[in-house]
Amino acid sequence: MIVESQNFFGDNYQLHGSYLVPTALTADHPKTITSRIPLTMTNFEPLRNDLLLRAARGERVERPPIWVMRQAGRYLPEYHEAKGNNDFFACCRNPEIASTLTLQPIERYARLIDAAIIFSDILVIPQAMGMTVEMLDKKGPHFPNPLRSPSDGQYEELLRRDVDVQKELDYVYQAITLTRQKLKGRVPLFGFCGAPWTLFCYMVEGGGSKLFVQVKTWIYKYPSASKNLLQKIAELCVEYLALQVKAGAQIVQVFDSWAGELSPGSFREFSLPYLRHISRKLPDRLRELNLELVPMVVFAKGAWYALDDLCASGYQVVGLDWLHDPAEAVKTTDGRVVLQGNADPGLLYGSREAITTAVEKMITGFGGGKQRWIVNLGHGQFLRFYVKDSL
Ligand code: CP3
Repeated sequence: MIVESQNFFGDNYQLHGSYLVPTALTADHPKTITSRIPLTMTNFEPLRNDLLLRAARGERVERPPIWVMRQAGRYLPEYHEAKGNNDFFACCRNPEIASTLTLQPIERYARLIDAAIIFSDILVIPQAMGMTVEMLDKKGPHFPNPLRSPSDGQYEELLRRDVDVQKELDYVYQAITLTRQKLKGRVPLFGFCGAPWTLFCYMVEGGGSKLFVQVKTWIYKYPSASKNLLQKIAELCVEYLALQVKAGAQIVQVFDSWAGELSPGSFREFSLPYLRHISRKLPDRLRELNLELVPMVVFAKGAWYALDDLCASGYQVVGLDWLHDPAEAVKTTDGRVVLQGNADPGLLYGSREAITTAVEKMITGFGGGKQRWIVNLGHGQFLRFYVKDSL
């Protein structure tokens, strides 16, 4: 079935080339985009709470929407129950378990959270490329065979391999479709991927790192080999996000968790071009697939120096970590993007009073929060236990 759609992003956003920009900036462009959208989502119930999508489009809202990075997972007792003895990636690969885990915070905090995020991991892309990734208890992700150098054999193989993103990550799309069905329109669903730079870090470091010796060796010794692989990852990200949208994701976020390890100059060289590739190509790919465009969020943790660049990177929403002062950030962005963030996750260890004071300051900093703000923490929350009074 085909419907004619009026400007999906509302009056506040216009398509400008492949970018969505605020209407004010496109006065000389036509006000309405008409596209033919196949109703592939007819089996999903209509969205009852679209607050977050409206805020992401830059509309004025009755209150700021909220979701929490890492809102599903270890701090919830029901997570451990549903996970049982399954390995972490086995949960990601099982659509029934992944959708159950996605819904847990939505159910526990019913009507307090305005979006769900699919339970998965950024490292499913390196896995789809053929690398082995394990999740070690208390240690985090581990690549038994990371990339060593451009001449290690594995590098050439990764560049050469034609990854079937549809087939290799089919379990994620199934989890997304099942989650949309189970959500029954309660809140919108985020899809996500890791940014090329962050994925590259994991692929060469083999896991988390303190000094990033391997990845710094790569970019400063083998810059063009690094860029070839970053480009390949960026192309896979585009296809992966497009297929997540096709499966039912209503907004997508790109996590550049290690952006802060780069200098401003090296961020411009090794991260930003690939983030831009995604924001430029994803709308093209969605149009090709006859799908609605969705808002795109970029979260480049630690890249406070790059906020101005990120405002012009083609994403409608820019996530902030807690190193940003909200009022300063609002000033820098000057209405170009919607901001998301940015309470210190460590604040959750504080008293109710301390939390309230900090949140009130944050609201003031974001100008009251009824426009261009999505409430979140400045990074994934890392509570290892469930504290009833903290949320
Ligand atoms: O609720 C949600 O936010 C959805 C699910 C989600 C997970 N990982 C689940 C998860 C999302 C969006 C991610 C993204 C992710 N994964 C990122 C980007 C965000 C960030 O934190 O910067 C990164 C860097 C990863 C890689 C990763 N996965 C790490 C570093 C770890 C270990 C973390 C730790 O504290 O030990 C994981 C594991 C992981 N991903 C868990 C969950 C719930 C914990 C798994 C477990 O031990 O049960």
